[in-house]
Amino acid sequence: MFIDKTIVVGISGGIAAYKAAELVSRFKKLHAKVRVCMTKASCEFISPLTLQSLSQAPVASDMFATPSKWEIEHISLAKAADIMVIAPAPANIIGKLANGIADDIVTATVIATKAKVLIAPAMNINMYENKAVTQNIEKLKNMGYIIVEPAIGRLACGTYGKGRLADLDDIIEAVYENLLYEKDLAGKRVLITAGPTREKIDAVRFITNHSSGKMGYSLAREAKRRGAEVVLVSGKVSLAQIKGIETIYVDSAEQMYQQVMNHASNSDIIVKAAAVGDFKVKNVFSGKAKKDKIKNLELEKNPDILFELGKNKNYVLIGFCMETEDLELYASQKLKEKNPDFIIANDLTMDGAGFATDTNIVKILHQSGEIEDLPIMSKDDLAKEILNRAKILLK
Ligand code: C5P
Repeated sequence: MFIDKTIVVGISGGIAAYKAAELVSRFKKLHAKVRVCMTKASCEFISPLTLQSLSQAPVASDMFATPSKWEIEHISLAKAADIMVIAPAPANIIGKLANGIADDIVTATVIATKAKVLIAPAMNINMYENKAVTQNIEKLKNMGYIIVEPAIGRLACGTYGKGRLADLDDIIEAVYENLLYEKDLAGKRVLITAGPTREKIDAVRFITNHSSGKMGYSLAREAKRRGAEVVLVSGKVSLAQIKGIETIYVDSAEQMYQQVMNHASNSDIIVKAAAVGDFKVKNVFSGKAKKDKIKNLELEKNPDILFELGKNKNYVLIGFCMETEDLELYASQKLKEKNPDFIIANDLTMDGAGFATDTNIVKILHQSGEIEDLPIMSKDDLAKEILNRAKILLK
Protein backbone atom coordinates (compact mmCIF):
# COMPACT_ATOMS: atom_id res chain seq x y z
CA MET A 1 0.00 0.00 0.00
CA PHE A 2 1.20 3.48 -0.87
CA ILE A 3 -0.75 5.31 1.87
CA ASP A 4 0.40 8.96 2.22
CA LYS A 5 2.76 8.66 -0.75
CA THR A 6 2.62 10.79 -3.85
CA ILE A 7 3.56 9.13 -7.11
CA VAL A 8 4.05 11.45 -10.08
CA VAL A 9 3.54 9.59 -13.34
CA GLY A 10 5.15 11.12 -16.41
CA ILE A 11 3.68 9.91 -19.69
CA SER A 12 5.61 10.29 -22.88
CA GLY A 13 4.56 9.79 -26.51
CA GLY A 14 4.49 6.14 -27.49
CA ILE A 15 1.77 3.61 -28.19
CA ALA A 16 2.27 2.11 -24.70
CA ALA A 17 0.91 5.41 -23.32
CA TYR A 18 -2.50 3.74 -23.08
CA LYS A 19 -1.05 1.37 -20.44
CA ALA A 20 -0.22 4.36 -18.24
CA ALA A 21 -3.96 4.70 -17.61
CA GLU A 22 -4.06 1.25 -16.03
CA LEU A 23 -0.87 2.00 -14.09
CA VAL A 24 -2.41 5.16 -12.61
CA SER A 25 -5.54 3.24 -11.70
CA ARG A 26 -3.47 0.52 -9.99
CA PHE A 27 -1.52 3.12 -7.97
CA LYS A 28 -4.81 4.70 -6.87
CA LYS A 29 -6.15 1.31 -5.76
CA LEU A 30 -3.00 0.95 -3.67
CA HIS A 31 -3.95 4.24 -1.95
CA ALA A 32 -1.29 6.45 -3.52
CA LYS A 33 -1.91 10.09 -4.32
CA VAL A 34 -1.24 10.20 -8.04
CA ARG A 35 -0.34 13.26 -10.11
CA VAL A 36 0.11 12.95 -13.84
CA CYS A 37 2.15 15.01 -16.27
CA MET A 38 2.02 14.33 -20.00
CA THR A 39 4.08 15.42 -22.98
CA LYS A 40 2.21 16.94 -25.90
CA ALA A 41 3.00 13.84 -27.99
CA SER A 42 1.48 11.50 -25.38
CA CYS A 43 -1.78 13.48 -25.55
CA GLU A 44 -2.05 12.28 -29.16
CA PHE A 45 -2.13 8.68 -27.89
CA ILE A 46 -4.33 9.07 -24.82
CA SER A 47 -6.55 11.83 -23.58
CA PRO A 48 -5.56 13.85 -20.48
CA LEU A 49 -9.22 13.54 -19.47
CA THR A 50 -8.75 9.78 -18.99
CA LEU A 51 -5.77 10.37 -16.72
CA GLN A 52 -7.51 13.19 -14.87
CA SER A 53 -10.49 10.94 -14.15
CA LEU A 54 -8.32 8.02 -13.03
CA SER A 55 -5.94 10.08 -10.89
CA GLN A 56 -8.75 12.30 -9.56
CA ALA A 57 -6.44 15.27 -9.98
CA PRO A 58 -5.65 17.84 -12.66
CA VAL A 59 -3.21 16.68 -15.31
CA ALA A 60 -0.25 18.85 -16.31
CA SER A 61 0.39 18.80 -20.02
CA ASP A 62 1.38 22.32 -20.95
CA MET A 63 4.44 24.10 -19.56
CA PHE A 64 3.07 27.44 -20.68
CA ALA A 65 -0.55 27.14 -19.62
CA THR A 66 -1.82 29.98 -17.45
CA PRO A 67 -1.77 28.51 -13.96
CA SER A 68 -5.08 28.40 -12.09
CA LYS A 69 -3.27 29.19 -8.85
CA TRP A 70 0.10 30.72 -8.20
CA GLU A 71 2.47 27.86 -8.51
CA ILE A 72 4.87 26.78 -11.20
CA GLU A 73 3.47 23.45 -12.19
CA HIS A 74 6.57 21.40 -12.89
CA ILE A 75 8.23 22.68 -9.72
CA SER A 76 5.21 21.93 -7.54
CA LEU A 77 4.88 18.43 -9.06
CA ALA A 78 8.61 17.85 -8.60
CA LYS A 79 8.31 18.84 -4.93
CA ALA A 80 5.17 16.79 -4.30
CA ALA A 81 6.70 13.57 -5.66
CA ASP A 82 7.81 10.86 -3.27
CA ILE A 83 8.75 9.01 -6.42
CA MET A 84 8.39 9.65 -10.16
CA VAL A 85 7.58 7.01 -12.74
CA ILE A 86 8.16 7.71 -16.42
CA ALA A 87 6.05 5.18 -18.30
CA PRO A 88 6.30 4.75 -21.16
CA ALA A 89 9.72 6.24 -21.87
CA PRO A 90 10.49 6.11 -25.61
CA ALA A 91 13.96 6.81 -27.07
CA ASN A 92 13.37 10.54 -27.27
CA ILE A 93 12.75 11.21 -23.57
CA ILE A 94 15.57 8.86 -22.60
CA GLY A 95 17.92 10.90 -24.80
CA LYS A 96 16.69 14.16 -23.33
CA LEU A 97 17.05 13.07 -19.72
CA ALA A 98 20.49 11.56 -20.31
CA ASN A 99 21.60 14.96 -21.54
CA GLY A 100 19.82 17.22 -19.09
CA ILE A 101 17.33 18.64 -21.58
CA ALA A 102 14.14 19.90 -19.95
CA ASP A 103 11.91 21.27 -22.69
CA ASP A 104 8.53 19.76 -21.82
CA ILE A 105 6.53 19.29 -18.62
CA VAL A 106 7.75 15.71 -18.04
CA THR A 107 11.48 16.27 -18.50
CA ALA A 108 11.30 19.59 -16.63
CA THR A 109 9.61 17.86 -13.67
CA VAL A 110 12.15 15.01 -13.66
CA ILE A 111 15.05 17.41 -13.68
CA ALA A 112 13.52 19.51 -10.91
CA THR A 113 12.73 16.64 -8.55
CA LYS A 114 14.82 15.34 -5.67
CA ALA A 115 12.73 12.15 -5.56
CA LYS A 116 13.86 8.84 -7.04
CA VAL A 117 12.90 8.48 -10.70
CA LEU A 118 11.93 5.20 -12.28
CA ILE A 119 12.09 4.98 -16.04
CA ALA A 120 10.24 2.28 -17.99
CA PRO A 121 11.50 2.30 -21.59
CA ALA A 122 9.18 1.15 -24.38
CA MET A 123 9.99 1.29 -28.08
CA ASN A 124 10.65 -0.71 -31.23
CA ILE A 125 13.44 -3.29 -30.83
CA ASN A 126 15.78 -1.61 -33.35
CA MET A 127 15.39 1.67 -31.51
CA TYR A 128 16.00 -0.07 -28.18
CA GLU A 129 19.16 -1.69 -29.53
CA ASN A 130 20.42 1.50 -31.14
CA LYS A 131 23.82 2.50 -29.69
CA ALA A 132 22.69 5.99 -28.76
CA VAL A 133 19.75 4.56 -26.79
CA THR A 134 21.78 1.85 -25.01
CA GLN A 135 24.43 4.41 -24.10
CA ASN A 136 21.81 6.84 -22.86
CA ILE A 137 20.22 4.13 -20.70
CA GLU A 138 23.64 3.28 -19.22
CA LYS A 139 24.22 6.96 -18.58
CA LEU A 140 20.86 7.26 -16.82
CA LYS A 141 21.66 4.23 -14.62
CA ASN A 142 24.99 5.78 -13.66
CA MET A 143 23.19 9.01 -12.82
CA GLY A 144 21.01 7.13 -10.33
CA TYR A 145 17.83 6.71 -12.37
CA ILE A 146 16.16 3.34 -11.91
CA ILE A 147 15.46 1.54 -15.16
CA VAL A 148 12.62 -0.98 -15.28
CA GLU A 149 13.74 -3.14 -18.20
CA PRO A 150 11.29 -3.55 -21.06
CA ALA A 151 9.71 -6.94 -21.63
CA ILE A 152 10.11 -9.26 -24.58
CA GLY A 153 7.07 -9.90 -26.76
CA ARG A 154 5.06 -8.69 -29.71
CA LEU A 155 5.68 -5.01 -30.32
CA ALA A 156 3.14 -2.54 -31.68
CA CYS A 157 5.09 -2.33 -34.95
CA GLY A 158 4.37 -6.03 -35.53
CA THR A 159 7.89 -7.31 -34.76
CA TYR A 160 8.83 -9.54 -31.86
CA GLY A 161 11.58 -8.72 -29.39
CA LYS A 162 12.60 -6.65 -26.39
CA GLY A 163 10.92 -3.27 -26.19
CA ARG A 164 7.44 -3.74 -24.75
CA LEU A 165 6.68 -1.67 -21.68
CA ALA A 166 7.52 -3.82 -18.63
CA ASP A 167 4.58 -5.65 -17.05
CA LEU A 168 2.68 -3.26 -14.81
CA ASP A 169 3.26 -5.70 -11.92
CA ASP A 170 7.01 -5.26 -12.40
CA ILE A 171 6.74 -1.48 -12.49
CA ILE A 172 4.62 -1.50 -9.32
CA GLU A 173 7.06 -3.89 -7.62
CA ALA A 174 9.96 -1.56 -8.53
CA VAL A 175 8.03 1.35 -6.99
CA TYR A 176 7.43 -0.70 -3.83
CA GLU A 177 11.09 -1.57 -3.53
CA ASN A 178 12.38 1.91 -4.13
CA LEU A 179 9.75 3.87 -2.24
CA LEU A 180 9.06 1.77 0.81
CA TYR A 181 12.20 -0.24 1.42
CA GLU A 182 15.62 0.52 2.74
CA LYS A 183 18.21 -1.73 1.16
CA ASP A 184 19.34 -2.87 4.60
CA LEU A 185 20.08 -6.43 3.43
CA ALA A 186 22.08 -5.38 0.36
CA GLY A 187 25.00 -7.73 -0.20
CA LYS A 188 23.48 -10.41 2.06
CA ARG A 189 22.56 -13.85 0.77
CA VAL A 190 19.34 -15.27 2.11
CA LEU A 191 18.28 -18.89 1.64
CA ILE A 192 14.62 -19.71 2.26
CA THR A 193 12.68 -22.95 2.05
CA ALA A 194 8.95 -22.91 1.49
CA GLY A 195 5.95 -25.13 0.92
CA PRO A 196 5.36 -28.81 1.44
CA THR A 197 7.45 -31.79 0.41
CA ARG A 198 6.03 -34.78 -1.47
CA GLU A 199 7.10 -38.34 -0.80
CA LYS A 200 6.29 -40.72 -3.60
CA ILE A 201 4.34 -43.88 -2.84
CA ASP A 202 4.09 -45.08 -6.43
CA ALA A 203 3.69 -43.61 -9.93
CA VAL A 204 0.46 -41.80 -8.99
CA ARG A 205 0.32 -41.34 -5.22
CA PHE A 206 2.36 -39.34 -2.74
CA ILE A 207 2.40 -38.22 0.90
CA THR A 208 2.32 -34.49 1.54
CA ASN A 209 0.84 -31.83 3.85
CA HIS A 210 -1.28 -28.67 3.68
CA SER A 211 1.55 -26.12 3.53
CA SER A 212 0.68 -23.33 1.05
CA GLY A 213 4.19 -21.84 0.94
CA LYS A 214 2.78 -18.36 1.72
CA MET A 215 5.07 -17.70 4.69
CA GLY A 216 8.23 -18.69 2.82
CA TYR A 217 7.26 -16.69 -0.26
CA SER A 218 6.52 -13.62 1.90
CA LEU A 219 9.97 -13.98 3.45
CA ALA A 220 11.63 -14.34 0.04
CA ARG A 221 9.83 -11.27 -1.36
CA GLU A 222 10.65 -9.20 1.73
CA ALA A 223 14.34 -10.17 1.65
CA LYS A 224 14.55 -9.31 -2.05
CA ARG A 225 12.85 -5.96 -1.51
CA ARG A 226 15.42 -5.20 1.18
CA GLY A 227 18.21 -5.77 -1.32
CA ALA A 228 19.26 -9.34 -0.45
CA GLU A 229 20.28 -11.93 -2.99
CA VAL A 230 17.67 -14.61 -2.42
CA VAL A 231 17.58 -18.33 -3.17
CA LEU A 232 14.20 -19.94 -2.60
CA VAL A 233 13.97 -23.72 -2.39
CA SER A 234 10.30 -24.42 -2.89
CA GLY A 235 8.09 -27.45 -2.71
CA LYS A 236 5.10 -27.64 -5.08
CA VAL A 237 2.86 -24.65 -4.39
CA SER A 238 0.28 -22.73 -6.37
CA LEU A 239 2.00 -19.36 -5.82
CA ALA A 240 3.49 -17.41 -8.73
CA GLN A 241 7.26 -17.43 -9.05
CA ILE A 242 8.79 -14.21 -7.68
CA LYS A 243 10.79 -12.33 -10.31
CA GLY A 244 14.38 -11.52 -9.41
CA ILE A 245 14.73 -14.51 -7.12
CA GLU A 246 16.45 -17.79 -7.91
CA THR A 247 13.74 -20.37 -7.27
CA ILE A 248 14.62 -24.04 -7.16
CA TYR A 249 11.61 -26.35 -7.20
CA VAL A 250 11.84 -29.67 -5.41
CA ASP A 251 9.52 -32.55 -4.62
CA SER A 252 10.92 -34.65 -1.80
CA ALA A 253 12.61 -33.84 1.49
CA GLU A 254 15.75 -35.52 0.17
CA GLN A 255 15.82 -33.14 -2.84
CA MET A 256 15.22 -30.17 -0.55
CA TYR A 257 18.05 -31.35 1.69
CA GLN A 258 20.46 -31.59 -1.28
CA GLN A 259 19.60 -28.12 -2.57
CA VAL A 260 19.77 -26.50 0.85
CA MET A 261 23.15 -28.09 1.55
CA ASN A 262 24.47 -26.90 -1.83
CA HIS A 263 23.65 -23.31 -0.94
CA ALA A 264 24.03 -23.21 2.85
CA SER A 265 27.69 -22.31 3.20
CA ASN A 266 27.20 -19.29 0.90
CA SER A 267 24.31 -17.95 2.94
CA ASP A 268 24.20 -15.22 5.56
CA ILE A 269 20.65 -16.02 6.69
CA ILE A 270 18.73 -19.30 6.31
CA VAL A 271 15.03 -19.53 7.07
CA LYS A 272 13.48 -23.00 7.11
CA ALA A 273 9.83 -22.16 6.54
CA ALA A 274 9.07 -25.36 4.60
CA ALA A 275 6.86 -28.07 6.06
CA VAL A 276 9.19 -30.99 5.50
CA GLY A 277 7.80 -34.53 5.57
CA ASP A 278 9.43 -36.47 8.38
CA PHE A 279 9.18 -39.85 6.63
CA LYS A 280 9.48 -41.24 3.13
CA VAL A 281 8.32 -44.54 1.68
CA LYS A 282 11.05 -47.17 1.94
CA ASN A 283 10.34 -49.05 -1.27
CA VAL A 284 8.62 -46.78 -3.78
CA PHE A 285 6.52 -48.84 -6.23
CA SER A 286 7.56 -48.39 -9.84
CA GLY A 287 4.10 -48.41 -11.51
CA LYS A 288 0.70 -47.88 -9.93
CA ALA A 289 0.59 -50.16 -6.90
CA LYS A 290 -2.51 -52.29 -6.25
CA LYS A 291 -4.54 -51.18 -3.23
CA ASP A 292 -3.65 -54.09 -0.97
CA LYS A 293 0.07 -53.38 -1.47
CA ILE A 294 -0.18 -49.86 -0.03
CA LYS A 295 -2.15 -50.89 3.06
CA ASN A 296 0.95 -51.27 5.17
CA LEU A 297 3.52 -48.86 3.83
CA GLU A 298 6.98 -49.13 5.31
CA LEU A 299 8.40 -45.70 6.06
CA GLU A 300 11.90 -44.48 6.80
CA LYS A 301 13.17 -41.23 8.26
CA ASN A 302 13.97 -38.27 6.06
CA PRO A 303 17.02 -36.14 6.78
CA ASP A 304 16.20 -33.36 9.25
CA ILE A 305 17.47 -30.37 7.31
CA LEU A 306 17.21 -27.86 10.15
CA PHE A 307 19.05 -30.23 12.47
CA GLU A 308 21.88 -30.66 9.95
CA LEU A 309 22.08 -26.90 9.40
CA GLY A 310 22.24 -26.30 13.14
CA LYS A 311 25.40 -28.39 13.60
CA ASN A 312 28.03 -25.98 12.27
CA LYS A 313 26.51 -22.60 11.74
CA ASN A 314 28.25 -19.72 10.03
CA TYR A 315 24.92 -18.10 9.21
CA VAL A 316 21.88 -16.89 11.07
CA LEU A 317 19.48 -19.84 11.22
CA ILE A 318 15.74 -19.62 11.77
CA GLY A 319 13.32 -22.51 12.18
CA PHE A 320 9.56 -22.86 12.27
CA CYS A 321 7.41 -25.01 14.46
CA MET A 322 3.71 -25.72 14.06
CA GLU A 323 1.82 -27.56 16.78
CA THR A 324 -1.72 -28.30 17.89
CA GLU A 325 -0.93 -28.57 21.62
CA ASP A 326 1.79 -27.64 24.14
CA LEU A 327 3.25 -25.12 21.68
CA GLU A 328 5.88 -23.62 23.96
CA LEU A 329 7.07 -26.97 25.24
CA TYR A 330 7.58 -28.52 21.79
CA ALA A 331 9.01 -25.33 20.31
CA SER A 332 11.59 -25.02 23.08
CA GLN A 333 12.57 -28.69 22.61
CA LYS A 334 13.10 -28.09 18.88
CA LEU A 335 15.03 -24.90 19.61
CA LYS A 336 17.39 -26.94 21.78
CA GLU A 337 17.68 -30.01 19.55
CA LYS A 338 17.95 -28.33 16.14
CA ASN A 339 19.86 -25.22 17.27
CA PRO A 340 18.38 -22.39 15.16
CA ASP A 341 19.08 -18.89 16.51
CA PHE A 342 15.37 -18.54 17.04
CA ILE A 343 12.24 -20.47 16.20
CA ILE A 344 8.85 -19.16 15.08
CA ALA A 345 6.10 -21.19 16.72
CA ASN A 346 2.44 -21.18 15.91
CA ASP A 347 -0.59 -23.09 17.05
CA LEU A 348 -2.56 -24.53 14.14
CA THR A 349 -5.76 -24.59 16.18
CA MET A 350 -5.90 -20.79 16.61
CA ASP A 351 -8.10 -18.75 14.26
CA GLY A 352 -5.89 -16.67 11.98
CA ALA A 353 -2.85 -18.95 12.33
CA GLY A 354 -1.61 -21.82 10.24
CA PHE A 355 -1.13 -23.09 6.73
CA ALA A 356 -3.34 -21.51 4.12
CA THR A 357 -4.26 -18.26 5.92
CA ASP A 358 -2.77 -14.88 5.00
CA THR A 359 -2.17 -14.14 8.67
CA ASN A 360 -0.33 -15.80 11.51
CA ILE A 361 -0.13 -15.60 15.30
CA VAL A 362 3.27 -16.62 16.58
CA LYS A 363 5.62 -16.81 19.49
CA ILE A 364 9.32 -16.33 18.87
CA LEU A 365 11.59 -18.39 21.10
CA HIS A 366 15.21 -17.27 21.31
CA GLN A 367 18.31 -19.19 22.44
CA SER A 368 18.63 -16.67 25.30
CA GLY A 369 15.39 -18.06 26.74
CA GLU A 370 13.42 -14.96 25.79
CA ILE A 371 9.94 -15.68 24.40
CA GLU A 372 8.11 -13.03 22.41
CA ASP A 373 4.34 -13.12 21.86
CA LEU A 374 3.48 -11.38 18.62
CA PRO A 375 -0.06 -10.21 17.85
CA ILE A 376 -1.97 -11.50 14.83
CA MET A 377 -0.43 -10.04 11.66
CA SER A 378 -0.18 -10.68 7.94
CA LYS A 379 2.47 -13.11 6.77
CA ASP A 380 4.08 -10.18 4.93
CA ASP A 381 4.38 -8.23 8.19
CA LEU A 382 5.64 -11.30 10.01
CA ALA A 383 8.32 -11.69 7.33
CA LYS A 384 9.48 -8.14 8.18
CA GLU A 385 9.60 -8.96 11.89
CA ILE A 386 11.60 -12.14 11.27
CA LEU A 387 14.15 -10.45 9.01
CA ASN A 388 14.51 -7.51 11.42
CA ARG A 389 15.52 -9.99 14.12
CA ALA A 390 17.80 -11.93 11.78
CA LYS A 391 19.54 -8.71 10.72
CA ILE A 392 20.48 -7.91 14.32
CA LEU A 393 22.26 -11.29 14.56
CA LEU A 394 24.28 -10.83 11.36
CA LYS A 395 27.99 -10.56 11.96
O1 C5P B 1 8.52 -30.86 11.58
P1 C5P B 1 9.09 -30.06 12.74
O2 C5P B 1 8.06 -29.47 13.62
O3 C5P B 1 10.18 -30.77 13.46
O4 C5P B 1 9.77 -28.81 12.00
C1 C5P B 1 10.46 -27.83 12.70
C2 C5P B 1 11.47 -27.17 11.81
O5 C5P B 1 12.34 -28.17 11.28
C3 C5P B 1 10.92 -26.44 10.58
O6 C5P B 1 11.70 -25.25 10.41
C4 C5P B 1 11.15 -27.40 9.45
O7 C5P B 1 11.35 -26.73 8.21
C5 C5P B 1 12.38 -28.14 9.87
N1 C5P B 1 12.48 -29.53 9.39
C6 C5P B 1 13.49 -29.88 8.53
N2 C5P B 1 13.62 -31.17 8.11
C7 C5P B 1 12.74 -32.11 8.49
C8 C5P B 1 11.69 -31.79 9.38
C9 C5P B 1 11.58 -30.47 9.80
O8 C5P B 1 14.28 -28.99 8.17
N3 C5P B 1 12.89 -33.36 8.07
